[in-house]
Amino acid sequence: TTNTMPARNIILVGFMGSGKSTIGRELGKLLSYPLIDTDSKIEELEKLSVADIFSLRGESYFRNCETQAVDQLISDGVTHHIIATGGGLPIKEQNRPLLRELGYVVWLDANTDTLLERTSRNSKRPLLQTGNPRETIEKMLNQRNAIYREVSHLRLQTSGLNIAETAHGILESA
Ligand code: S3P
Repeated sequence: TTNTMPARNIILVGFMGSGKSTIGRELGKLLSYPLIDTDSKIEELEKLSVADIFSLRGESYFRNCETQAVDQLISDGVTHHIIATGGGLPIKEQNRPLLRELGYVVWLDANTDTLLERTSRNSKRPLLQTGNPRETIEKMLNQRNAIYREVSHLRLQTSGLNIAETAHGILESA
């Protein structure tokens, strides 16, 4: 029989509020894999919150931090981890093959209502601070869905699924 444990890492991509951190923690527990969160990694390195990095240094500085974080994961040869990424990390084209090289890339997809509900529970996301949040989310999804589709090995629709169902959905196909 084959070993159903994912050989390398599981990488979670998707929009803000798609559940990457929450599902990452759950998968980490189920597989006994440690969780790496790229936003947290960057916050530790920069000694600033993501919101402060955006306001003090700008978005493109943050995007460079994300690329450095991915490069670091590759050069560290990280395996048997869950990696939760920031929602915009796959925007940079050069990051996409690196994410796929790191392991099994799962797109946590969700509809606008779900994303709106989940992102409205906390307000620390700089990109959702201005304008009408529903319109902002829809506009960003229009730009990003093709990117998430391209980078991922698996797309999982999570609207209506609870945490356990989502985690098991990933493990069944990993
Ligand atoms: C961003 C998503 C955030 C964080 C930053 C930018 C984005 O991460 O990296 O605010 O561009 O989608 P989460 O997806 O964990 O909220």
